[in-house]
Amino acid sequence: MNPQAGSEQLRRCLEQTAPFSAASSTTLQRLVERGSLRSLAAGEHAFREGEPSQWIFVVVRGSLAATARSEDGRESSLRTLSVGDVGGLTALDPGATRSASLRALDEAMLAIVDKSAVREALASDPGFATALVAYLGEHVRSKTRQIATVLARVGRDPREQIALFDAKPYERAAFDRCSSDVLRVRWIEAKLDAASAALADGYPVVCAFVNDTLDATVIERLAAGGTRLIALRCAGYNNVDLAAAERYGIDVTRVPAYSPHAVAEHAVALLLALNRKTHRAYARVREGNFSLHGLVGFDLHGRTAGVIGLGKIGRCAAEILRGFGMRVLAYDPYPDESFAARVGVEHCAVDALLERSDVVTLHAPLTPETWHVIDARRLALMKRGAVLINTSRGGLVDTRALIDALKSQHLGGAGLDVYEEESEYFFHDRSDKVITDDVLARLMTFNNVLITSHQAFLTEDALGNIAETTMANVREWLEGRRGAALTNRVVRVATPR
Ligand code: NAI
Repeated sequence: MNPQAGSEQLRRCLEQTAPFSAASSTTLQRLVERGSLRSLAAGEHAFREGEPSQWIFVVVRGSLAATARSEDGRESSLRTLSVGDVGGLTALDPGATRSASLRALDEAMLAIVDKSAVREALASDPGFATALVAYLGEHVRSKTRQIATVLARVGRDPREQIALFDAKPYERAAFDRCSSDVLRVRWIEAKLDAASAALADGYPVVCAFVNDTLDATVIERLAAGGTRLIALRCAGYNNVDLAAAERYGIDVTRVPAYSPHAVAEHAVALLLALNRKTHRAYARVREGNFSLHGLVGFDLHGRTAGVIGLGKIGRCAAEILRGFGMRVLAYDPYPDESFAARVGVEHCAVDALLERSDVVTLHAPLTPETWHVIDARRLALMKRGAVLINTSRGGLVDTRALIDALKSQHLGGAGLDVYEEESEYFFHDRSDKVITDDVLARLMTFNNVLITSHQAFLTEDALGNIAETTMANVREWLEGRRGAALTNRVVRVATPR
């Protein structure tokens, strides 16, 4: 090749390739002067593992394989480089040797730059130095992702079809009972999010729980890794971008009911403890304080309870509250008149329900319509001294407004199994850390607020049902059912029924 034309081609290649594209024209000129173009025939080596590293390169044409030998002498492929890829950056370390061999897969050409010229450019051209640091940073990040993927596959049983995120020890026994030789679960402790999604690479099914992130970015990453089914092991699905799932051809299933009784019973447990101050009495007696001061509650019998969301859980709660001899009001956009008549529940509008109830318990799903359904205005409508119970989703309540209502002593107490920003805290042991969420910290200071860590579902019966339904959902999908043919498919509409 004519040397003039070669230099021009080398310059153009560097100008278009990061990090060289950030170099000043003087730096670029120096790099070109100490660079060259090198053609390789198919199968020819550019360099071999262990040779001294003398230059950095950019692929100008063709593709090349980087390979390295393991201790037992076996050669494995590390990556394939194609046009625009930069390599050999370890040469910047003086005395470095090649950590891999580079072989042309077809006819190829490399733009080669002498390592001492690059080192000089680093010292003299801050723009280039910054771009190189950024480039290396991105390189390290992509390597970290590759390592995570490889680690996830190490020891993978080929029968494992399901990557189960946010795995907790108490779930395992129930899932193990439902596993079989053809259907096994990979237990991943990490919560699912953009950083951990690569752990699902190669798994057709991802099993997620309430605080896993399934936004468009995560779903795109899961799709790229081959995931085609998101099997939620919970009822709520407000954490899933269903439009994104549809776009990437991923079906989403859930466990619509695993034990509505478990959740309703926990809601009532919170109510009973709060009303009769059991949580405070327990602490007092342990300290040897047998005083009754401040422990006065009220009879539930004859009082009015308001149930918002009269679905599976709401109906169980209504039945229990009726059993206490309470008058029960309910709001649901789809009133079930026959249930109401049978159990003795009066349907009414939300505002009227709040005005008339001594106890309000929330059992509606979190949707755009129900977000902050209990806000400052609605809290003000509630009776002075009324108790609010939320075992549904934190987003139903405007927490700051709730704190104001508690501070002003308008509200008599709150029992919360869910919290708007719970994902950082709930389900984790944070006892050795400082709570940096000031809203949660303030809530925890009230002696008439009882918080549990999203545990309303946590009974043996519910865990068994969750595992059985989740695995049945996966089995259907593996048997070839798709879309509407899936029994527990999540459909993209505002309100689940
Ligand atoms: P469901 O679907 O059987 O019932 C929800 C009811 O809410 C339906 O009757 C629906 O018509 C009603 N609804 C919809 N929009 C409403 C609105 N704007 N206002 C009032 N009601 C409305 O669901 P299920 O099984 O009763 O669960 C309810 C919620 O409980 C779930 O969405 C989930 O968020 C939460 N949950 C919490 C658990 C926990 O461990 N804390 C466990 C399981 C569920």
